[in-house]
Amino acid sequence: MDPVSILVNLFNNFFFIALPYIAVIVFLVGTIYRYRSTAFRYSSLSSQFLEGKNLFWGTIPFHIGILVVFLGHLTAFMFPRETLLWNSEPVRLIILEVSAFIFGLSVLFGLVSLFVRRITNDRIRVVTTKMDIFIELLLIVEVIFGCWIALGYRWGSSWFAADLSPYLWSIIKLSPQIDAVSAMPVVIKLHIILAFSIVLIFPFTRLVHFLVAPLHYLVRPYQVVMWNWDRKAIRDPNTPWSPTPPKNN
Ligand code: HEM
Repeated sequence: MDPVSILVNLFNNFFFIALPYIAVIVFLVGTIYRYRSTAFRYSSLSSQFLEGKNLFWGTIPFHIGILVVFLGHLTAFMFPRETLLWNSEPVRLIILEVSAFIFGLSVLFGLVSLFVRRITNDRIRVVTTKMDIFIELLLIVEVIFGCWIALGYRWGSSWFAADLSPYLWSIIKLSPQIDAVSAMPVVIKLHIILAFSIVLIFPFTRLVHFLVAPLHYLVRPYQVVMWNWDRKAIRDPNTPWSPTPPKNN
């Protein structure tokens, strides 16, 4: 084997076999450790009180877009056969690809707005860490690659399901098969490598808030009333009034 092929082989083995495992281990250990040690900082630390208008135009298009795009990747990964079946009808393929691309643009627009807000607004700059800047830049590059792939290497939802889903499953089954991913164009490889890198640094960023999304807010009552008194006794006119509050008050 010539030196260039050896180098390429080494590169592929590191980025498509070693990196995913390192990323998952750091992700699991890091997120659990951080939650157990500093649970109150397991959040995205809202900056809405400092600035609200630009935040709205960044955070809403970004979050709507990223959740749809994330679920799209997850669906093609979990249900590759069904995705290919859906795409077997050209109209359905085009509807899927065009809408995914629009959500991708929405992510890009929102993220760039959030990034500009973070570096131009004085009040926001004070509460912005180097890691906030780094992760937002990384996400911007990742989304630009994603949009580039959508335009330049059509039809991603089909070739992802056919070639990349089996690769990711092979990693999960601890029997990595990297032939398909090794043959991918450079920009697709970079998109994958960046994705693993984001998973790797996830525990050290504000992205951890995704794991503690307050989904129970969708079903919980607007107001939670805690009774520190015996309700029946306190409403009974025969109960004498007590000047001392209950012990837990
Ligand atoms: C159900 C899921 C999610 C919920 C409920 C959620 C909620 C939030 C909230 C409340 C904020 C704070 C906004 C503020 O300053 O007031 C925020 C910020 C942020 N979120 Fe999420 N998020 C979710 C998923 C995600 C995902 C999947 C990502 C990226 C992969 C993400 C990336 C970010 C980033 C980068 C910020 C900081 C934006 C900035 O202020 O510059 N979020 N999120």
